[in-house]
Amino acid sequence: MTAVDAQIRFDDGARYERYMGIWSRLAGDRFLDWLAAAPGLDWLDVGCGNGAFTQALIARCAPARVYGIDPSVPQLTHARARLAGGAAQFLAGDAMALPFPAASVDALVMPLVIFFVPDPARGVAEMARVGRPGALVSAYAWDLPGGGFPYHALQARLRALGLTLPAPPSPDASRLEVLQALWTGAGLCEVHTHAIAVQRTFVGFDDYWQTVLEAPSIGPQLARLRSAEVAQFAAEVRAELPIDPADGTISVWARAHAVAGRVPGGR
Ligand SMILES: C[S@@+](CC[C@H](N)C(=O)[O-])C[C@H]1O[C@@H](n2cnc3c(N)ncnc32)[C@H](O)[C@@H]1O
Repeated sequence: MTAVDAQIRFDDGARYERYMGIWSRLAGDRFLDWLAAAPGLDWLDVGCGNGAFTQALIARCAPARVYGIDPSVPQLTHARARLAGGAAQFLAGDAMALPFPAASVDALVMPLVIFFVPDPARGVAEMARVGRPGALVSAYAWDLPGGGFPYHALQARLRALGLTLPAPPSPDASRLEVLQALWTGAGLCEVHTHAIAVQRTFVGFDDYWQTVLEAPSIGPQLARLRSAEVAQFAAEVRAELPIDPADGTISVWARAHAVAGRVPGGR
């Protein structure tokens, strides 16, 4: 058994992009189709990371303004560079104590974040506090308990080797029924949920493997193995991946759960 940091650290916005940002935009597009938000709103993107979802939000929802908050300084630096000069502003902050006054924005979203929040109910209560009457309060998250995380099979294989992977503090928050209960428990109304399936295609095994090596939860664990063990592990993973015999591409599915509701009043 190998000791690990208990936390998953997001300390490199460019690596995050390859590992998760691409997935975030694929799932985020589906999520935003479902949300069908009106244009011209003031948004708060809670846990904006490197701005991958924020970029999709700006492209698809034409917001008046977007504030993004995240505790990771490297992620915020990447987000600021990526979306410089536009409608977005990025600030350091925590979902459990949003640095915004009550009733100050029209729409809030927590994309791929709720399972990282130690007290999800407090995070949702904070979004409900900051939303104006009638504000849209939404989230989507990989279905972690149901195996919907994009690298679920790979993580299971690593655990079977005896490696201990860091895990987010609140995986159960991504269950549909838990999301529903969190939103209604925060006093939000018109609450509804939705499941999203999304597919990503890697150009080949090298693309897949390099992506995995850069993953914050998986890469450091692989780095602890001897090179012969890594090579053996890579060969086993490769043998199980659905590699297209025609062009070598690898298509992987993932599943997320989404929730949306409104702050009472105002409509
Ligand atoms: C999987 S990333 C999602 C980033 C972005 N929303 C996206 O869709 O690509 C999770 C993000 O949550 C942030 N995070 C972790 N704990 C948080 C907290 N307590 N409050 C707000 N954000 C948090 C991390 O720094 C990281 O950027």
